[in-house]
Amino acid sequence: MKTTHKIIIGDAIEELKKIPTESIELIFADPPYNLSKKNGLGWKYSKHVTMQEEWDMFSKDGYYKFNKEWIKEALRVLKHGGSLWICGSFHNIYQVGFILQQIEDVKINNSIVWFKPNAQPNITCRMFTESTEHLIWASKNGNNQKWTFNYEDTKNLIFDNINPKGKQTRNVWSIALTPKKEKWAGEHPTQKPEELLRRVILACTKPGETVLDPFVGSGTTSVVAKRLGRNSIGIEKEAKYLNIINRRLEQQNL
Ligand SMILES: C[S@@+](CC[C@H](N)C(=O)[O-])C[C@H]1O[C@@H](n2cnc3c(N)ncnc32)[C@H](O)[C@@H]1O
Repeated sequence: MKTTHKIIIGDAIEELKKIPTESIELIFADPPYNLSKKNGLGWKYSKHVTMQEEWDMFSKDGYYKFNKEWIKEALRVLKHGGSLWICGSFHNIYQVGFILQQIEDVKINNSIVWFKPNAQPNITCRMFTESTEHLIWASKNGNNQKWTFNYEDTKNLIFDNINPKGKQTRNVWSIALTPKKEKWAGEHPTQKPEELLRRVILACTKPGETVLDPFVGSGTTSVVAKRLGRNSIGIEKEAKYLNIINRRLEQQNL
């Protein structure tokens, strides 16, 4: 099936405002988590340094305002019966969940715990090692539309050491950190594993539908959408990632 994949370089809130109301079936958002520090911490046993990205630094009030605004616009462009997935860690996920809980017609269907078996060690050695991220799956209900959940497919498309093949899928997914072979097109500090997107897109959309990612980064959502026969729209503020996105999308033609 021929699909279209549009990349928009610009600010998510401004660009979402230009997208027609109720036109999108799935939004996958991996927003800034507001966890970067001006002076990142280093780890003496590896090259790993904690995040120091400008795009990931907000004041407390500024971050709340930002989350409220982009979520409002994302829900406007979502169709009734569409799904909004938002990624996070403890730094942002409670705030995102709180915002969603206050909006009429929005239902949180699940929160997925993504377990990373090869997570980075804790640099300070003064707390437990963070080895999970959390994804909220919410649907926009209204006009008597039910969200898409390809139940039978999920039984056979998601299997790991927590989810045996052929059984109902649990909300705990074990997926390793993004492997080097997916980073061939260039460096992005928070590139998501393609397997994570595969599960979300296959569970919540039908072929030919449209997936939008307001913070597309290195283009993972668009790349997996293309591979799976879905249309995509990706928005990214930093033009420096465009080359990585285009190269990854082009490879899907091979
Ligand atoms: C957590 S990363 C997303 C990574 C992506 N999921 C991937 O697999 O590559 C967030 C991205 O959002 C971008 N970004 C930050 N603020 C933005 C904004 N206001 N509008 C659009 N993009 C933004 C950053 O440049 C960064 O690439």
